[in-house]
Amino acid sequence: EKGTYPHYMLKEIDEQPAVMRKIIMEYQDENDNIKLDEDVRHAVQQSDRIYIIACGTSYHAGLVGKQMIETMAKIPTEVHIASEFSYNMPLLSERPLFIFISQSGETADSRAVLVQIKSMGHRSLTITNVPGSTLSREADHTLLLHAGPEIAVASTKAYTAQIAVLALLAVDAAKVKGIKLDFNPIQELGIVANAMETLVDQKDVIEKIARDYLAVTRSCFFIGRGIDYYVCQEAALKLKEISYIQAEGFAGGELKHGTIALIEEGTPVIAIATQAHVNGSIRSNVKETVARGAHACIVSMESTSETGDQIVLPEVHEYLTPLVSVVPMQLLAYYAALHRDCDVDKPRNLAKSVTVE
Ligand code: M6R
Repeated sequence: EKGTYPHYMLKEIDEQPAVMRKIIMEYQDENDNIKLDEDVRHAVQQSDRIYIIACGTSYHAGLVGKQMIETMAKIPTEVHIASEFSYNMPLLSERPLFIFISQSGETADSRAVLVQIKSMGHRSLTITNVPGSTLSREADHTLLLHAGPEIAVASTKAYTAQIAVLALLAVDAAKVKGIKLDFNPIQELGIVANAMETLVDQKDVIEKIARDYLAVTRSCFFIGRGIDYYVCQEAALKLKEISYIQAEGFAGGELKHGTIALIEEGTPVIAIATQAHVNGSIRSNVKETVARGAHACIVSMESTSETGDQIVLPEVHEYLTPLVSVVPMQLLAYYAALHRDCDVDKPRNLAKSVTVE
């Protein structure tokens, strides 16, 4: 039930701090270690390469997951859009593990890949919000998101839950391999939950930005580098899906290779700048767009912020910044859709789970 909320999407955005805390509870044992089924642990340890398969928002969570698994656990990881996998099948390693990320666990494109790789004899793990869903039943192993039902078509809390569970999986894999990490995921996810709470309490700020930048525009660009680029892709999907604004996420460095030609007087450019090592370069990309008339909005973290930034996120660990930078992006999409009189929870032409290929 959506209770006093006008829309499920807003309720689900607000639930994210509680979902982070729930995940901590579900995946923490008495000794503050990560609680995982031994057979999941074993499947990860046995594999020489991970192939993440997903669609839409879950694919975007997979991109962040790849980064964490490679950085922390040092397991080579690829991320594939499910519907493309069978045409563009990569050369598989000797002991692949396939991870299916799916909120609903019912996505037909992902299931088709699962059927295909099972027939080839490969192992599979589904990360889903729905126990007993098709992808969960048919894969060898399941990890649950514990996000509670997600009703709005636009996925919000499932994305952050997916990233949180992938972080735990990455840390666990690193530990089992004896890799020392200066990163306590349980503690860091707690910090994330508090940061998310601060952000969902600042709705008036985001609503105003949505009005100023997005109320009448035809298009909007999100730019970022590294992990921020992944969040830009998710931010663009959210905005397109519910506000029908033509939006794209671009890698900052690619602008000069073509995209910058699209910038006109007043084009909104939303830059995500949470990473210290690319802060200078993404800010010079913003300047390049402003010089061509862009209406720029910068989203930074306390440690990367400069005076004049429109949104400054509370500090969290650099691996986990997508969990907080996505929150204002979800709210921006929500308020843009409201300002444009769109049906937030049931956008046109879309269904909550896509059960046809
Ligand atoms: O249930 P799934 O996670 O497998 O769904 C995948 C996509 O259909 C889904 O994430 C879609 O992109 C969302 N509507 C985006 O908000």
